[in-house]
Amino acid sequence: MRWNERLYIRDLPDKIGETHTLHGWIQFTRKSGKIRFLGLRDGSSIMQGVLVEGETEEEAFNLFKELRQETSVEVTGVVQESTQSQYKVELLVKTIKILGKSEQYPITPKEHGIDFLLSNRHLWLRSKKQVALFQVRSTVIQAIRDFLFQYRFVQMDSPILTCSVGEDPSGLFGVEYFDMGTAYLAQTGQLYLEASIAAHGNVFCFGPTFRAEKSKTRRHLTEFWMMEAEMAFFDSNDNMDFQEDLIQFIIKRVLETCDWYLQQLERDPEILKQALAPFKRYSYSEAVELLQSKDSKIKWGEDLGAAEETLLTDGSYLPAFVHDYPKEVKAFYMKENPEDPRTVRCDDMLAPEGYGEIIGGSQREDSYEKLLNRIKEEKLPVESYDWYLDLRKYGTVVHSGFGLGLERLVGWICGIPHVRETIPFPRLMERLTP
Ligand code: 4AD
Ligand code: MG
Repeated sequence: MRWNERLYIRDLPDKIGETHTLHGWIQFTRKSGKIRFLGLRDGSSIMQGVLVEGETEEEAFNLFKELRQETSVEVTGVVQESTQSQYKVELLVKTIKILGKSEQYPITPKEHGIDFLLSNRHLWLRSKKQVALFQVRSTVIQAIRDFLFQYRFVQMDSPILTCSVGEDPSGLFGVEYFDMGTAYLAQTGQLYLEASIAAHGNVFCFGPTFRAEKSKTRRHLTEFWMMEAEMAFFDSNDNMDFQEDLIQFIIKRVLETCDWYLQQLERDPEILKQALAPFKRYSYSEAVELLQSKDSKIKWGEDLGAAEETLLTDGSYLPAFVHDYPKEVKAFYMKENPEDPRTVRCDDMLAPEGYGEIIGGSQREDSYEKLLNRIKEEKLPVESYDWYLDLRKYGTVVHSGFGLGLERLVGWICGIPHVRETIPFPRLMERLTP
């Protein structure tokens, strides 16, 4: 049998009455009177196998006693309809073959502490909720790509080893780079995307990014995945429209295809449906006024923290944009707002329910002089930015872009509060294994 002819649980709905062989891992076993049940997980789904005296071979009953959580098996049986499973099938087991034993699997159905689970991340990934979570994450990644390719964006992979600074010079990981001194792990691919728009118009990159931030919060990883898009001839408003359409496209895809996984995650799809209305848009100044009216102590000029972000979307399941922040709290490359030069034409998209900033975006400074001044004002090494400044010398255009944090987005969609769970192997200040 060629690899692509192999059958999985997801292929069984139109195989009712046929005998087939499946491979996978035992999720559970259970007895009820003379009947035995097993849960088989094969990567495509979980399905129940039923062992019935007179129908199942004697030897399979004997082997059943040896099955443990996560024993790997080959099971042959007759496909039957069932109301229980994702694909509405079960297997009337005929024969069982044990492939790999599993004695005293550390993760049992009882409650475990988060440290224990993270230390056993390599095994925890097999648990029902984790399986559902990463099915949704994978769906979200596919949806992002589908949306971008539908609009003919070109993927321009950006380097991970860089010499220039990206977002925040204080949050860089350095690595020794031959005899050239220190290289830095990329915090963003944005500057490289800006170089690519003159070649391709609309571009994106999607990869891991690194921040040596000493933040131990539910929203911070030291390594996280970011999709960044950059568009020529887009101003800040186009940028926000585009971000809103992208997020709604993703939500719709998840609602259409991930019903079962949302159910496993106990995430109510009705909540996500509410994000399909036009997002709220507040200027930073409006946001500050609104916050003050909600008894926040924030003053104009200060950055919004997690508490303020949560307060802004409080009482609603709809994301909100905050745009045009004060220059001082944002990165050097953002376009000065011609209507109020104290501010820059940027936007943060805030997810509701306390999930906070999932997108950071801006129109970029396209004037050579203004950009050079900002680099100097921020005391950044001008020589590292000579190529970036070149982009303003040779055919500069209005352009905008943004970065979407995958783990925060998936956290919000799945209702998982901490990003340490929404990436397969989290990298945190105090964790580098497994
Ligand atoms: O707002 P940020 O820092 O924006 C940039 O990096 C821009 N250069 C992007 C661009 O315009 N091309 O990061 C973008 C997003 C945030 O909104 C957040 O979702 C996520 O990346 N993010 C993190 N996610 C997990 N852990 C961290 N430490 C994160 N820092 C940022
Ligand atoms: Mg940001």
